[in-house]
Amino acid sequence: MLSKSEKEVLGIDLPVGSHHYRAFVGSSSLYDLVAATQFNLLTALGLREYHYLLDIGCGSLRAGRLFIPYLLSGRYFGIEPEPWLIEASMANEIGNDLIRIKKPTFSHDRNFTLSIFNQKFDFVLAQEIFIHASQAQISKCLSEAKKVMNPTAVFAATFREGQDNYEGNDWHYPDCIEYTLNRMRELAAEQGLICKPFDWPHPGPQSWLLYIHPENESNTLELSAGAEPLRLLSKLRYTENRLNCWENHPHVGLIARMNRVTNDVLKKVRNLGISVKSKIG
Ligand SMILES: C[S@@+](CC[C@H](N)C(=O)[O-])C[C@H]1O[C@@H](n2cnc3c(N)ncnc32)[C@H](O)[C@@H]1O
Repeated sequence: MLSKSEKEVLGIDLPVGSHHYRAFVGSSSLYDLVAATQFNLLTALGLREYHYLLDIGCGSLRAGRLFIPYLLSGRYFGIEPEPWLIEASMANEIGNDLIRIKKPTFSHDRNFTLSIFNQKFDFVLAQEIFIHASQAQISKCLSEAKKVMNPTAVFAATFREGQDNYEGNDWHYPDCIEYTLNRMRELAAEQGLICKPFDWPHPGPQSWLLYIHPENESNTLELSAGAEPLRLLSKLRYTENRLNCWENHPHVGLIARMNRVTNDVLKKVRNLGISVKSKIG
């Protein structure tokens, strides 16, 4: 568990969007978990140290602090319009030595100009970006992604599924916005990409989508099959946690006690019936 002073340093009780490098990008208490989810997903999908990774809206390197040590030098690229987030992460999480050795590349572009690096990528990541982006921004991001993705590249992104589509024109932050799965598929198709829902855990109410080039459709299915055991394990843990929560819920305890009492009464009534019958007989 965390001490009071650790909580303060890590910004644990600050509201999302606060001017703290962890709290700005999401719930500080989930900072580690959301990083692990991203790292596990891409490595399960086949990310190796020699691949090139583009992290769109990399924030305070929540996932970057795991990907940068894992990848070989010069393979991690991040886009983040708020430079202070990257600086704070370098100072508090990563350190100058790792930056010197792994040479990550950053851009502060805010127009989703993914081609700014003049680099093709094997994996592209947009974690908690499409839950704030307008349809025009998502379209721009996908059209740029199409240009920079290698033929077998996988682009993993989260979105929040809803009944309606956000129709605003601007980035919406820190509140979240929703799109239908159908709209997300249409936006991808308009840019010549296939968009597939991918069942992978996320600690928040978000779902994962994988974007691929149409000619790569069968390859991705094989990768998904490879990730199946990990996915099932995560699901099992999640279900186990939910079950524990239910078991400790006061209403569940009450129902269990009522069940026990009902069974006792039924047993007594049955015994009574038997003894009455035997007396009559
Ligand atoms: C919810 S945070 C997610 C950060 C990171 N992906 C993570 O998982 O920790 C959203 C990030 O998108 C950044 N952002 C805002 N406008 C952007 C834009 N136009 N292009 C790329 N990133 C943007 C924000 O500064 C913020 O760091």
